[in-house]
Amino acid sequence: MVAPPYGAVARPLLCFGISGSPFSHRSAPISSDTATAPPPLQTSAAAVATRPDAAPYVEFLALQKTYDGTSLVVKDLNLKIRRGEFLTMLGPSGSGKTTTLMMLAGFEAPTDGRIFLDGVSIESMPPHLRDIGMVFQNYALFPHMTVRQNVAFPLEVRKRPASEIAAKVEQAMKTVRLSGFEDRRPAQLSGGQQQRVALARALVFEPKLVLMDEPLGALDKQLREQMQVEIKHLHERLGITMVYVTHDQAEAMTMSDRIAVFNEGRIQQLDTAEGLYERPVNSFVAQFIGENNRLSGRVIGRDGDRCRVALDNGPEVSALAVNIDGERTRLSIRPERVTINPTADEADNHLQARVEEMIYLGDHRRVRLSVAGTDEFIVKVPSGHAHGALAVGAVVSVGWSWADCRALDA
Ligand SMILES: Nc1ncnc2c1ncn2[C@@H]1O[C@H](COP(=O)(O)OP(=O)(O)O)[C@@H](O)[C@H]1O
Ligand SMILES: [Mg+2]
Repeated sequence: MVAPPYGAVARPLLCFGISGSPFSHRSAPISSDTATAPPPLQTSAAAVATRPDAAPYVEFLALQKTYDGTSLVVKDLNLKIRRGEFLTMLGPSGSGKTTTLMMLAGFEAPTDGRIFLDGVSIESMPPHLRDIGMVFQNYALFPHMTVRQNVAFPLEVRKRPASEIAAKVEQAMKTVRLSGFEDRRPAQLSGGQQQRVALARALVFEPKLVLMDEPLGALDKQLREQMQVEIKHLHERLGITMVYVTHDQAEAMTMSDRIAVFNEGRIQQLDTAEGLYERPVNSFVAQFIGENNRLSGRVIGRDGDRCRVALDNGPEVSALAVNIDGERTRLSIRPERVTINPTADEADNHLQARVEEMIYLGDHRRVRLSVAGTDEFIVKVPSGHAHGALAVGAVVSVGWSWADCRALDA
């Protein structure tokens, strides 16, 4: 194998897997065989003492980051990631996802707060000692090495036996569907193929923690969806802990055990895909995850979980009181929870509506209505439902159950 000129390819080196970097071939007491070594025991009594409730694999504690000394791009971040979990950081561009990942990897220093990895505080540990595999936004391979040499590299620096290297490289190439491309150089591959090589290289040495920052962004839709499922299966098979960054909610929902929704440097909600969709805790999450109808109003009464809301441009309705601390509220209701022309016992709330548009989408009809002052109210009507009365211009009623209508921050 051609020895890579380390100094000359600093960026690719950074970008392919911290553990796989030549610097991590250390003579430290930890076994170089990360694939078979038993999980290290919790070693820091102080760390354990600060976290009495659980032993998360990764923990961020009151983490803060500013680049310019004035504005915080990560604000008081607290997050526990379980061993073996697939955790996704999902949020709009600029919400602090990459910054958080870079702090975990060790390429950015926290301004304040703590990071624990397997019970050990790592804020001051250099990246190459963290034993983390990484795939960055922009794939970066060693250009002068073949695909085989690129993928073998993390195993070569660990001085694994040739037979093991050959077998693991072959398996990794199969996993990313690139068998047969071993002897090409990166320049002879498409962007998508290069990124798959980067994936193979980050995974081939089976690190216990793998970080991925929008690794599929450069791939076309079909390949991206295939790779999502493959990475998910790989995660299940290898039992590694995965921290994955994306701005694509479908990708997050497909792959993750739990999703941390980021906005403006804060985690807005940490939950399963189903939890985020069915039980958003604030208006940002309700709007960011899936489709959502919004109606504004004033809280005029409350009885336990249930509140009465006077809509700004409509009647009084009842809703589930979720996040109201003041008079103003924004109601959130999913399009598939609304019934058109409901019977009296199908819905607690009945509002008059006018059909503005109908789109046939095979398995359902997407109906846009004017309701309570908005003409962007969407209802999904499953195909096969009788909708004889439905026509553009028709005046109908819409209704829903109060528990499906969440009263959130205005
Ligand atoms: N190296 C940097 N120097 C200064 N500002 C940065 C740097 N990296 C990111 N930022 C800023 O920090 C904020 C969060 O960025 P980032 O973590 O990249 O968000 P995301 O990955 O969610 O898109 C943005 O406002 C971005 O402009
Ligand atoms: Mg980013």
